[in-house]
Amino acid sequence: MGRAAYSDVAREEGVDIIGPSAIPIEEGAPVPREMTFDEIQQVISDFVYASMKAMEAGFNGVEVHGANGYLLDQFLQDTSNQRQGEFGSSVKNRSRLLDCVIKAVANAIGPDRFGLRLSLWSVFQGMRMSGLIPQFTNIILKARKFNIAYLHLIEGRVTGARDNDSHDTLDFAYDLWTGPVLVAGGYTLSEARRLLDEIHPDKKILVVFGRYFISNRDLAFRMREGLELTAYRRDTFYAVGSPVGYSDYAFSK
Ligand SMILES: Cc1cc2nc3c(=O)[nH]c(=O)nc-3n(C[C@H](O)[C@H](O)[C@H](O)COP(=O)(O)O)c2cc1C
Repeated sequence: MGRAAYSDVAREEGVDIIGPSAIPIEEGAPVPREMTFDEIQQVISDFVYASMKAMEAGFNGVEVHGANGYLLDQFLQDTSNQRQGEFGSSVKNRSRLLDCVIKAVANAIGPDRFGLRLSLWSVFQGMRMSGLIPQFTNIILKARKFNIAYLHLIEGRVTGARDNDSHDTLDFAYDLWTGPVLVAGGYTLSEARRLLDEIHPDKKILVVFGRYFISNRDLAFRMREGLELTAYRRDTFYAVGSPVGYSDYAFSK
């Protein structure tokens, strides 16, 4: 999790909180220790190891999480990466860790089994660098070169698990990508239809639903049948260890 790690968990496990640079998410948050070269190499090996284990366990593929202010995103953006040397200090160098992870994992499990998730506009966990278009253009073009299965993008109007009223568009990313794109973030069925049928009928886009799946366990059925959706309850999203807001939403009649 890099600098997004919880200090009580790190203390319990006896590990340091590490990141690209010693920059906390916000004032008062844990200050990460700048990672060494060996620790960066270890992260690449860990992604390969975990991906191979996932394939061994029978998953169809692996989606690498380069989004939402976690470790790989922290290396990409200068809000969290101010390091000198080959893993920081320029667009190309900030992309390097993710580039290495894509290359190593795609090599291990096959690029057709590999997806990459990015959040371009999110401010969650202290992200959203100012020059993000050149940065994300660079990493999307790198991912394209490896011919991975798909790119998964998060809309600007969702930041973590919350909505905002941003109108930032993903169009530049759609233009860079030739393969399938998954897109998530505050979609309803009619908005998804509009994106696919009217705005980008020429693109291979697949709309992903997150929160509505929590409150509608039969979401696909309801959408197909045109049934009303149950609203989700935000205050129970993170009710750990409780069935409330997790397995107590009803099926449609
Ligand atoms: C309860 C909950 C937990 C989430 N956990 C994570 C997470 O651990 N990592 C992450 O990148 N996104 C997480 N998200 C964000 C979702 O992956 C997704 O991007 C977001 O919900 C947007 O899709 P939606 O509008 O259809 O829900 C979480 C969302 C919710 C509601």
